[in-house]
Amino acid sequence: MQKILVVDDAELNRELLGDILAEDYIVLMAGDGEEALEKLKEDGKNLSAILLDLHMPKLNGFAVIDEMKKKGWMKWIPVLIISSEYSVEIENKCFELGISDFIHKPFESSLVKKRIKNAVALFSYKNQLEQKVEEQEEILKQQSLIIKKQAEKLKQLKPFNKLMLEYHAAIMEVETRLKVLNEEFSQEYNRNPFESIKSRLKSPASIYEKLERKGYPVTVEGIRENLTDVAGLRVICSFPDDIYRLAKLFTRQDDIILLREKDYIKNPKPNGYRSLHLIVGVPVYLSNEKMHVKTEVQFRTIAMDFWASLEHKLKYKKNVDSADEIVDRLKECADSIEVLDYQMQEIRNKIDRSRE
Ligand code: GTP
Ligand code: MG
Repeated sequence: MQKILVVDDAELNRELLGDILAEDYIVLMAGDGEEALEKLKEDGKNLSAILLDLHMPKLNGFAVIDEMKKKGWMKWIPVLIISSEYSVEIENKCFELGISDFIHKPFESSLVKKRIKNAVALFSYKNQLEQKVEEQEEILKQQSLIIKKQAEKLKQLKPFNKLMLEYHAAIMEVETRLKVLNEEFSQEYNRNPFESIKSRLKSPASIYEKLERKGYPVTVEGIRENLTDVAGLRVICSFPDDIYRLAKLFTRQDDIILLREKDYIKNPKPNGYRSLHLIVGVPVYLSNEKMHVKTEVQFRTIAMDFWASLEHKLKYKKNVDSADEIVDRLKECADSIEVLDYQMQEIRNKIDRSRE
């Protein structure tokens, strides 16, 4: 049976409430605020509710609430005031302090029972939810600890470090080739097909997490075979047609192997994401061997990139207020960006033509 603490200086009231509740609960009694706090200290964790009188000797009801707030107990235990006080001001104050219900004396026993039952059920549901969230957070913490430890282990492996060197070399290779194309364009046509290149090597923790999540073996071979985004480059262009021109010139190079192409510009994701993704095999020469290294190259316009970084923030943030509305607005922005990108491209084409 659940426990309830009844705090009232009038013995008659305590008895009355005790009689009403005895059928459903174990009822503890306190005759004033001080005694109530003592009982809370002893047994607070096991209490399902407190029925609290306001006017009492030694410590009154407000002082009890104050102390409970300080200790953080109000979050766990519903407090129901039972009082002959009829001032709206005082009742308001009590609710502002976080009480669950205010019951006026003299009370009707069947109603009191129901109101207590409601408050107890609501808090127990809320407490269960909070406990679940805490448990989940603990599990996540443990998982991230494991990931960190495993990542450290990976970093100690010589073949792993050699693999990372291959990926790094591939990034440098792609970057150089794209920069060469950019410079050639700049000389020939007086414009740059891309604005900037960002690159990143996937961190050991991230590599480990992805292998585990997808059920691939956590080995150097497992990485080489299954992960295509350890070496990643993002090429930011001004206009959509530069993306396709650049991608074509790059993949046409005879030692670049196009392994996969995902065109999220022609086929945007439902959330509005647009970019051209290429997975390519890039030749890397080491002292004793030559190999093709898998590399992910994402092409997008400045506006698409601006959108993607904001959208990325939403994905990694928990508890975002009105997330649904944000998703809708981001989709609207993506649609506007598409229109804008092509309008800008048209304007540039007009300017180019009038120059000739
Ligand atoms: P990952 O396992 O995340 O690499 O996805 P995938 O293997 O399905 O490949 P995909 O080509 O769809 O995505 C590769 C990368 O593109 C992601 O890791 C992100 O960097 C980026 N990306 C894909 N979809 C989105 C998106 O909806 N929003 C944002 N901001 N980035 C995205
Ligand atoms: Mg990825």
